[in-house]
Formats: sequence, C-alpha cells, structure tokens
Amino acid sequence: MSEFITNVPTYTLNTRAVMPAVGLGTFGSDKYSPEQISAAVSGAIKAGYRMLDCASVYQNEDMIGNVLEELFKDGTVKREDMFITSKVWNDQHREVRKACVKSLRDLKLNYVDLYFVHWPFPNYHAPGCDGDSRNPDSKPFSVDEFMDTWHQLEELHDAGLVKALGMSNMTVSKLSRVLPLCRVKPAALEMECHPSFQQQELFDYAKSHDIVPIGFCPLGSPSRPERDRCSTDVADMELAEVVTVANWHNIHPATVCIKWAVQRGLCTIPFSVKESQYISNLKCTTEDPLTEEEMDLLKGAERNCRLVKGQVFLWPGATDWKQLWE
Ligand SMILES: NC(=O)c1ccc[n+]([C@@H]2O[C@H](COP(=O)([O-])OP(=O)(O)OC[C@H]3O[C@@H](n4cnc5c(N)ncnc54)[C@H](OP(=O)(O)O)[C@@H]3O)[C@@H](O)[C@H]2O)c1
Repeated sequence: MSEFITNVPTYTLNTRAVMPAVGLGTFGSDKYSPEQISAAVSGAIKAGYRMLDCASVYQNEDMIGNVLEELFKDGTVKREDMFITSKVWNDQHREVRKACVKSLRDLKLNYVDLYFVHWPFPNYHAPGCDGDSRNPDSKPFSVDEFMDTWHQLEELHDAGLVKALGMSNMTVSKLSRVLPLCRVKPAALEMECHPSFQQQELFDYAKSHDIVPIGFCPLGSPSRPERDRCSTDVADMELAEVVTVANWHNIHPATVCIKWAVQRGLCTIPFSVKESQYISNLKCTTEDPLTEEEMDLLKGAERNCRLVKGQVFLWPGATDWKQLWE
C-alpha cells in the first residue's frame, strides 16, 4: 500500500461535526467513468481521504457505494470516520425525500453527513448536454420555491437521514433572503472557488454566518465539460502568481491552489482519478505552508473568471448567464 496521510486540517461545523479540509471530488466531467472514479475513491480512502463530495447527478453513487460497503466490511475505515456528502438534483426539488433515499440506497449508507440543494433553481438539463441546450420549463430563482425545497431538507435532518444541510451555487443576495427563513441553518456552502475566482464577498458572508465554505473547481477544473468552456476563461495553474509561488516552493501549481484554499479557510474538494495527484492534493495540506506574503501575492490572481456559468439553466427570456448569479 502507498503512504497513509494523517493530520489533515479540519473545520468544525455549526452542528459541531468535524469535517476534513480536503475531500475528493467525484464529478467525472463527462470524461471519467464511474469505474475509474470509484477505483479512485477506494485508493483515496486507503491513502487517508476521509471526505467525499458526491451527488446524484454525477451518476456514480451506486459504484461509490459498492466501494464504501467493501471498505467498511474489511475494516479499512469506519463509517463514523468518513464525512460523506450528497446533493438533491434540480429535477427533484419537489420530492427531496425520494431523492435522498435513492442516494442513501446507492451509497449504501444510513445517513449522509451533509446534504445539499445542488442549485437554487428547479431547472435541469439532460446529463452530457451541450452549452446551448435550454429547458423551456426553466424558471428564475424564487424564495418561496427554494424554501419549499429547504423545508423538505429540514425534515430529512429531523429524521436523522442527513446530519447537516448545505446550499450550493448561491449568491449573497439569495442567501440574505433565505437565511432568515431557515429553521435549520445551513452548515456549509459549496461555491466555485479558485485563485482566478475567489468570491471574497460570498466567502466573507458565509464565514460571518458560521457557514463553512467548500470550494469547488479548486484547480480551475482543467478537464471540465465542453459546455463549461469559454474563450475568455483563464487557466489557474498557468497564472503568473500561481506559477511564481510554485517555483519558489518547487511544487506543482495544483499544490499551490490547494494550499492557498485551505490556508484561506476553505474546505476544498479537488477531483482526480490519478493516484499521484490525489495523494499530493491531500498531503500538501500537512506540510510546507505558504507564507503571508505568498498568500497576499495570490490575492492578486483574482480575474473574476467564473467557470461554471450555468447557462443551460437559463429560463425563457433570460439572455445572459450573469442573471443566474444576481
Ligand atoms: N456544487 C457544484 O455545483 C459543483 C460544481 C462543480 C464541481 N463540484 C465538485 O467539485 C469537484 C472538483 O471540481 P472539478 O472536478 O470540476 O475541478 P478541479 O478539481 O479543479 O480539477 C480536476 C482536474 O484537475 C487535474 N488535477 C487534479 N489534481 C491534480 C494535480 N495534483 N496536478 C495536476 N493536475 C491535477 C485533473 O485533470 P486530468 O484528469 O486532466 O489530469 C482533474 O481532472 C467535483 O469533482 C465535484 O465533486 C461541485
């Protein structure tokens, strides 16, 4: 067996649960198969990963469940030492319990540690669609509809099927309207976050409301699907600020992105099916920290470069993906 990594930093949620600062992303970006991803989950847990970021729309929870069942059975890891998330997809906002029960059945778990509303809209597209796809039933954000979905998550929480609740792909404006209406407050906020898209205002807002931010696409999602690519996007791992710091430490730019995220106060969920990558992504948070000066330099890598624009979720009449982020 390869090395086993310990002493990964953690965050304590407002539920008092402890969540590792690094988890394995499990979205294969239409590029990696469920077999490859579940093999990586197995290898990652054996290397010391204790958090997995799952979702029903990633279409691999059943294969990941097989791996979890095997590793719990053979004593590699205990259920209570893992932190496992899942998310309700946009087409199931009116039947959240059914969606959650399906995820639990697929993952072969009695509960998940954190359950998210994946997107704050009931708008969905077929898996693998192209960027110009539109669903005529799509609608703008509605506080009432979102809260109806959230109250269903609160019931799952009451029933013990989910230990904490999370929101994802939110904005300060949306959060400020829904937070006062929540009986069970969110413990975490999943948000796109990488050096060229730091979302400082949203990050500060989450922290000030005792919500732990979890940053997705931490490496700038170099393998993201075609529908999420645009000619103006920048590559985080090629940014001068990131490359400079990488050269100073003699490390890969990916390592800089992950150290920066965790030292800034994010939980980060890099994806990889490659053993050397996922081991390095975990291990780097336990050694050789960035200096304050390097953290300051990386602040300057901000380019306001949102990668997951969500344009496939636009509703009839909406013309600009920025309308999703108001
Ligand atoms: N809540 C949401 O709406 C949402 C949206 C997007 C993502 N997510 C979550 O966030 C996770 C991460 O996002 P992501 O997968 O889009 O992007 P990412 O983690 O930024 O990028 C993953 C890619 O980076 C490369 N990579 C990984 N480790 C590396 C290393 N050490 N050195 C060099 N390259 C490395 C790999 O590319 P190659 O395979 O080409 O080597 C890998 O496929 C997802 O898997 C998912 O769980 C959530």
